[in-house]
Amino acid sequence: MDNKLREELAAWLEFYRDLGIEDFYLPPGSGVAVASHERKESAPPVAAVSRGPAGAEAGRPSDSAPGRAGPAPTERRPTAGPPARSLSLFEAPPPPRREHETLEQVRRDLGDCRRCRLAGGRKTIVFGQGNPHAELVFVGEGPGADEDEQGLPFVGRAGQLLNRMIQFVGMKREEVYICNIVKCRPPGNRTPEKDEIDTCSPFLFRQIEAIRPRLVCCLGAPAMKTLLGIKEGITRVRGQFFDYGATKAFVAYHPAYILRNPREEKILREDFETIREFLKSAR
Ligand code: URA
Repeated sequence: MDNKLREELAAWLEFYRDLGIEDFYLPPGSGVAVASHERKESAPPVAAVSRGPAGAEAGRPSDSAPGRAGPAPTERRPTAGPPARSLSLFEAPPPPRREHETLEQVRRDLGDCRRCRLAGGRKTIVFGQGNPHAELVFVGEGPGADEDEQGLPFVGRAGQLLNRMIQFVGMKREEVYICNIVKCRPPGNRTPEKDEIDTCSPFLFRQIEAIRPRLVCCLGAPAMKTLLGIKEGITRVRGQFFDYGATKAFVAYHPAYILRNPREEKILREDFETIREFLKSAR
């Protein structure tokens, strides 16, 4: 394959990956690759692009594409209507290659989001806060009442504990970046549901990719599940590092859990000590 063709193909694959389409198949005798959402069940895939660690769901980053996120599931689902025509990869000029995104671009793309039902109950979208080039990113679950009111993550009681922990690692809040898996407050502060997470988490993946931190700290089980695909109990996993594309991820208890179980604060301190040592060692 010549270089120009290879570049065109790469641009197309990247374009489809941004749409959440990662599998293609070759209909027998056609010689034309077809995107997987149009694939007949019996057709064998000819290429499957890695979707990250075992058990990971579509959209989570793989080693080769850290932080690359698929679209909201509503966008990924085939639409109703006449049967879709097979798409040839080469029917149109290739889309422009997407350069490294900034947080502002991700925020702009999120817009006045109405992609899921959480939009109906929110006051403010809580996108995230902090240093756009942070070494350390914290990912919580979703905004609570205080966050919804102020439009900023972790500003309530859990946020105060997180602030103390950030100081404990020798950093200031402005130096790190803080965000959540969902950007709108779930009613009654319930845990976000799967479809809400599926819809919103691509923006989280893109935030992390825009920042390119050295460490992403998952605060609580939902963040751990969303970013790492780990379904085990957090008690067994906390305090450990994982690969997250080209960066590292770490799992710690959510500060709100510690507020409810103050005896566990010792464990949180231990985990933040581990974070401190990690950041020191790699400097
Ligand atoms: N809990 C979270 O998970 N996130 C916030 O922003 C606040 C509380």
